[in-house]
Amino acid sequence: MKFFIDTANLQDIEEAQALGVLDGVTTNPSLMAKEGITGKQNILNHYLAICNIVEGDVSAEVISTDFEGMVREGEELAALHPQIVVKLPMIGDGVKACKYFSSKGIRTNVTLVFSAGQALLAAKAGATYVSPFLGRLDDVSTDGMHLISEIREIYDNYGYQTQILSASVRHTMHIINCAKIGSDIMTGPLSAIKGLLKHPLTDIGLKQFVEDAKKMNL
Ligand code: G3P
Repeated sequence: MKFFIDTANLQDIEEAQALGVLDGVTTNPSLMAKEGITGKQNILNHYLAICNIVEGDVSAEVISTDFEGMVREGEELAALHPQIVVKLPMIGDGVKACKYFSSKGIRTNVTLVFSAGQALLAAKAGATYVSPFLGRLDDVSTDGMHLISEIREIYDNYGYQTQILSASVRHTMHIINCAKIGSDIMTGPLSAIKGLLKHPLTDIGLKQFVEDAKKMNL
């Protein structure tokens, strides 16, 4: 399973990249705003800075909600850097824009997906990635992980090439369950990725090894 980091914070992206396990980055307007980035040119420069840190795909989201606006923005984003993937909302015009971009060979990530039917539409429109938001479903007492398994089953039934990019991942168990179900990618915060490192028996075991190694007078 590929690991993407879901942030626009350059330090977090650098830290995940340095760990050697990072396959890409996802951003959204809320994450960009959180970094205090304002103005079109600064935003475009920030995407370029992210592309210069990682080797994999970087999702950059359009802010228009109409077809023409999404096409205009998406073409500009796609032209910015070969690693950029155009992120589109799961609305009618977003599906139309997804079809438009996929027919032109421009990669897309259809976001704000909360149902299997929406994921099916994204695949039929040729999306490169579909982003089901599992944490936000959990927030409203709905099993987000069940949605991931439904999408996996549907895509496997018909051999859809759209990759499942499980999003709104919040913690380590989301990551582990995504891997068990067969999600192609998960995107989450640095804290969730680093959480996978933790086990008290590892720390106790290493402490003992370090103490015993001293006895060997190396
Ligand atoms: O990739 C989608 C993600 O940014 C949403 O995460 O934690 O805001 O639900 P969250």
